[in-house]
Amino acid sequence: MKILFLNGPNLNLLGQREPEVYGRTTLADIEAKVRERATKLGADVSFRQSNLEGELVAWIQQAKGEFDAVVLNAAAYSHTSIALRDAIAAVGVPTIEIHLSNVHAREEFRHKSLIAPVCRGQITGFGTNSYVLAVEAAINVNAK
Ligand code: DQA
Repeated sequence: MKILFLNGPNLNLLGQREPEVYGRTTLADIEAKVRERATKLGADVSFRQSNLEGELVAWIQQAKGEFDAVVLNAAAYSHTSIALRDAIAAVGVPTIEIHLSNVHAREEFRHKSLIAPVCRGQITGFGTNSYVLAVEAAINVNAK
């Protein structure tokens, strides 16, 4: 089981960025937690971050045949990017949308996710645990 974790814009600043919203945990700390959980469950993880929409699109395209599932925190692009949505739909690798914060409890512009309809499901609002929970969701993404 190979899982690709993709992180969008500004998530490289976790730990110092709006800690009252996103906490003090860095992206490297989150990656370590994800790897620990994945190792326990026997999954192999790749973990990447980009501030560039096109780079995220390219990684989603390349996931086909390489990864069994994608876990995507598209950050602000979740609410704006038709390109990411189209890439997920085109490639067909099962994709799980995640967020640290509960986007539905925040500003109205965060309530709409353009990628949600082409994702298998959404994990939002559990802080760093959204990532850890996503490992299990990815492993079971084809379970009914
Ligand atoms: C986020 C929520 C988005 O609305 C925001 O733009 C982010 C982070 C989250 O993980 O809570 O950058 O995806």
